[in-house]
Order: sequence, then structure tokens, then C-alpha cells
Amino acid sequence: MFEYLSGGAEDERALHNNRAAYSRVQLIPNTLRDVSHVDTSTHVLGSDIGMPLLLGPVGFAGLFHHEREPGVAVAAGKYKTFYSLATWGSSTPEEIGAVSTAPKMMQLYIPSDRERAYALVDRAKAAGFTALCVTVDTPVQGSREKAWRMGMPPPAKMPISSYLSILGHPRWLFNFLRSRPTPGVSLFDHPPSEREMMAAGPATDLTFEDITRLRERWDGPLAIKGVLATADARLAVEHGASAIILSNHGGRQFDAAPAPIDLLPGMVDAVGDRAEIIVDSGIRRGVDVLRAIALGATACMIGRPYLYGLAAGGQLGVERALQILKGELERNMALLGVTRIADVDGRFLHPGRDIVDKRKPDELYR
Ligand SMILES: Cc1cc2nc3c(=O)[nH]c(=O)nc-3n(C[C@H](O)[C@H](O)[C@H](O)COP(=O)(O)O)c2cc1C
Repeated sequence: MFEYLSGGAEDERALHNNRAAYSRVQLIPNTLRDVSHVDTSTHVLGSDIGMPLLLGPVGFAGLFHHEREPGVAVAAGKYKTFYSLATWGSSTPEEIGAVSTAPKMMQLYIPSDRERAYALVDRAKAAGFTALCVTVDTPVQGSREKAWRMGMPPPAKMPISSYLSILGHPRWLFNFLRSRPTPGVSLFDHPPSEREMMAAGPATDLTFEDITRLRERWDGPLAIKGVLATADARLAVEHGASAIILSNHGGRQFDAAPAPIDLLPGMVDAVGDRAEIIVDSGIRRGVDVLRAIALGATACMIGRPYLYGLAAGGQLGVERALQILKGELERNMALLGVTRIADVDGRFLHPGRDIVDKRKPDELYR
């Protein structure tokens, strides 16, 4: 399970570069500013939220802790930020809608049978989800070799060492057997068989026309997740997207993909104010959020950081992860010399040799 959570695709070059790219973005702080009241709240995907850090969709969160997706969604509500339920999550939109006050986004993997996806959209809407995101970087699954070697995720075959590891965690095993989480429950009204699961995987013939068709059924915020090319972002906007989630899936898909944060300035130029830009992959600290916002992101998204919290302590673990990240964000806003998210912009960027910025230095600093 740890390999499934932490690992990336193939040689994990994208995974490692995602982190390295953040350390190349440096911000020059202002001093002698009154920072006694720092406010992290902002607005994204049609909702006012407590901080520009959204919880991204993850498949099968029930593997990590028996409190599963509802535990995460309740924690998100306490921090007033978006919770995203994955198509291949182990909970239904109705379960999430019943327990969580968080603003909610439904993630779609559109299968060959498009009607299944449309039915899920209708259910999510009825359960109080206000935003939709379509993940488009997964026409096939990336080769996550470390996880597959350990038999993750199911139905891959587990080696003896995985069984021994499971036996070494009796409390986890007891809770897992008791809660019996099933991935993909939202797509079916019964526990799916292996064959049904395979048939409901993401379609390989997905095109921009699918975005248009979805837009005809959904009038709320619509984000396209996993766009890296600026040409694709422009097309996504022309076909009805209101947000781009600039993401390489946390380095879990295409191992030659650049770090999203490095592509952010180009993406901002390409879409302008026609769409919001949410960036993920590699955010581990509150200060990374400031880096992304200074480069032009509307908000950021995380996957693994909250999953580590979930695995370690269920809902309380996610809350603790969010508390740490929010605390870091507040502290670093004060250190940067700003009190509002709207005040964080390109003027703070250090135009070092790794950052391509065509503006003159006196346009960059306050
Ligand atoms: C265990 C795991 C499962 C994931 N499952 C999905 C998924 O089902 N759908 C999706 O769009 N993204 C999925 N993602 C990607 C996340 O939504 C997000 O893009 C990524 O984790 C961000 O990178 P970070 O982990 O470095 O924060 C998954 C990520 C992880 C770690």
C-alpha cells in the first residue's frame, strides 16, 4: 500500500522532478509590512474556500484507512476547502454528501460506456457536488512498477512478502476486513466483478467532443485535470472548461512529463483570465502554495500529503496534515510580507537563471 501511495511511474523521474522544480522557485520577501492579520481565504471553482489548497481525487482511499473518503471529506469541511471524490474511490457521492460540509468536486474517468459517467454526474449533483473534473492524462495507466511488484492496486497478484507485511499489521487488517472497501462503487450499484471493473476503465477514445457533451449536461464549474500542453488548455477552454488542473498526476503517469510548476507561466499566458488554473504534483509545504500563486495559479491541489495523514491517523490524520499546511502557509505569508492571497503575484519572483521572465527587474519588485 505504501508503494501504491508514494510511488511514481517507471524510473520516477517525473515524481522526483516535481519536487526539485519547486526548490527552483524563489521569492523575494517584503519587510516592514503589517502582517498581524493573515488571511488565507480565496475563491475557486465557484466557491469561497479557507485556503488555496484543494484535496485532489485519489482512487481507493479505503486501502489506507477504514475511515476512507468520508473521513477525508469531513476533514476538508473543517478547513473549508474542496474535497474531490474519485470515480475509482471506495465511497459513493451520497456517502460523502451525507457527512461533509466541504465544497465538493466529482472526478470523472469517462469509460467507453459514456452513460455510466453521465449517471455519476447526475448522482454527484444530487448529492451536493458543485464542481466536476475530468481526468484526461490516463488513456492507459502509467507503469507504476514498484506498486505492481507488490501486487497493488488490485487485481494485481500479491507476492508472499505483501501477505507477510499485511499479517504484520493486524489492526489495519481487522479494520480492512470489517469495512471491506471496494474501488469503483460509484460506477456500479453492486460490488463490481474483475471483468466489470476492467470494462469500466477510462476510455481510450476520449476527445474534446466529450468535453462539449459533458458541458451540455453540467452548467457548474468544469475542470480538466492532467493538461500540460498549452494548445490542449486552449482547446479545453474552447470546449467549455472553466478550469485547467495543470498536473502530471503526481508523476504516476508519463515519466517524461515536465513538472507542472515549470509550465505554469506559459499556461497563464495561454488561457489568461478565460479559465482558472489549479496546479498540483509535488506540493509538500505551505510555501509551495505561495510559489505557485506567485507564478499565476489560482489555487493548488494535493494528493499524497493528505493521504499520508489518512494512512497514519484516519480523519484526524488528514486534519493534522491540513493544520500543518495551513500553519505553514500563514507563517510564510507573514514572512513574505503579505496578508491576503490576492496580494501574492509575480512581483515577488526572483528572476534567477532558472526562471524565464521577460519583464524588466523594476517591474518585478515592489
Ligand atoms: C494513491 C493515489 C491515487 C490517485 N488516484 C487518482 C484518481 O483516481 N484520479 C485522478 O484524477 N487522480 C488520481 N491521483 C492523482 C492526484 O489526484 C493528484 O493529481 C496527485 O496526487 C498530485 O500530486 P502529489 O501527490 O505530489 O500531491 C492519485 C494519486 C495518488 C497518490
